[in-house]
Amino acid sequence: MSIAITDPASNEAALREAGSEHIFMHASPYRALAKDMGKRILVEGKGCIVKDIDGNEFIDALAGLWLVNVGHGRSEIGDAMAKQASMLAYASSTQATTIPAIQLATHLAEITPGDLGTAFFCSGGSEAVESAIKIARQYHYHNGEPKRQKVIGRRGSYHGATYGAMSVSGTRPNAEPYHSPFMHGVLHASPPYCYRCDFRQTFPACDLLCADQIEQMIQYESPETVAAVIAEPVSASNGIVIPPDGYWKRLREICDKHGVLLITDEVINGFGRTGKMFASEHWDLVGDILTMAKGLSSGYAPIGAVMCRPHVVEAFEGDNKLTHLLTYGGHAAACAAALANIAIIENEGLVENSAKMGAHLLEGLNGLRHHPIVGDVRGLGLIAGVELVKDRETKEKFAESSDEIKHLNDGLQERGLLTRANHIISLSPPLCITKDEVERIVSILDDAIGDLERTFGYA
Ligand SMILES: Cc1ncc(COP(=O)(O)O)c(C=O)c1O
Repeated sequence: MSIAITDPASNEAALREAGSEHIFMHASPYRALAKDMGKRILVEGKGCIVKDIDGNEFIDALAGLWLVNVGHGRSEIGDAMAKQASMLAYASSTQATTIPAIQLATHLAEITPGDLGTAFFCSGGSEAVESAIKIARQYHYHNGEPKRQKVIGRRGSYHGATYGAMSVSGTRPNAEPYHSPFMHGVLHASPPYCYRCDFRQTFPACDLLCADQIEQMIQYESPETVAAVIAEPVSASNGIVIPPDGYWKRLREICDKHGVLLITDEVINGFGRTGKMFASEHWDLVGDILTMAKGLSSGYAPIGAVMCRPHVVEAFEGDNKLTHLLTYGGHAAACAAALANIAIIENEGLVENSAKMGAHLLEGLNGLRHHPIVGDVRGLGLIAGVELVKDRETKEKFAESSDEIKHLNDGLQERGLLTRANHIISLSPPLCITKDEVERIVSILDDAIGDLERTFGYA
């Protein structure tokens, strides 16, 4: 089928049909676009607002997929990419590098926590995690500990869709029927999810059992077989899980004690999302390896990076070359996009705005606790979650495929809010959000949750 895509408005039906036929949308059934299912054709955006092909406007309360930190429509990022692409878009990732790649790596060394100082570039978050795992394993090999191969992740965390990243993800049970066996040597510990503590304890009386469990796992497995622990400082996929005080200090100490590398996955957390440039800063945490993507370019170009501390990269000196190459690592136009994006974050005080608007958002969300089905509200900076329960005593969850959750998602979209809602409503809007927009998000949630309660008899 042939369609003219130069004038989308006049070809809406044809575009929808062609998109449905020819695009296999991620994490969706085939032809999801034609069946609607909440899938849309978006045509433009400005700040926190996006518009679809039918002219409907939405608040993009998830910043795309947790990444459009500077907001939509920043033409200066496009200009920077165009300028670099017209000069030199690409240089081999193994035989040469480019000026924007050097500038970006140098700036990342300045703004990442502690002495993280050397960047390995890639195209996104999964590749960053995949690369971090390989760097960690090879690091131990060169340090004379080739048996250190195992990686400990945490239940509920998400680290990506490629095989290694999927294997260390604590969401992998969803993939098990289709994609197992997973990468060998991966274990999963309990998350620091106080609202649903695996140990049925309460902080601080628990004395951080969830962190200590990781030490027990390392000891049980034998420390000399464990390469790394991987964890998001604030876990987004697990329902915006913000660890209690002392968790990160304890986990850092455990890793140091046993010679295990700590990989801090800041793919969502980084670049102002939590009200600091990197979430690690909330706890003076420095991972040995830090993964980043998403907010690195705010989605204007596909780029990710793995930041390494000196002791990590020093294992790769002399003949110890890293056995890992990605064609698009350090793509010059993508690095130019990241530089322009970081300049906006810094020059416009978006990290500070994230902290300020995040506090306002959290206050508003806490005001939703009067709803019987709101079980918990959590947030740090501009990443927040509202956890819904059928019953506050039993904390029974709504199933993702339930009529209630379908009704809620439809209700949010009808009211002009784009986000991801299952039993947890996730919020992660662009960092340029205004007070009015924050209040609009809260008011739409209030309305949609109330509607769900009345429709299904929870009021
Ligand atoms: C913490 C974390 N790590 C890694 C990834 C994978 O990133 P990507 O989808 O860019 O491959 C994600 C994606 O959401 C993520 O949330």
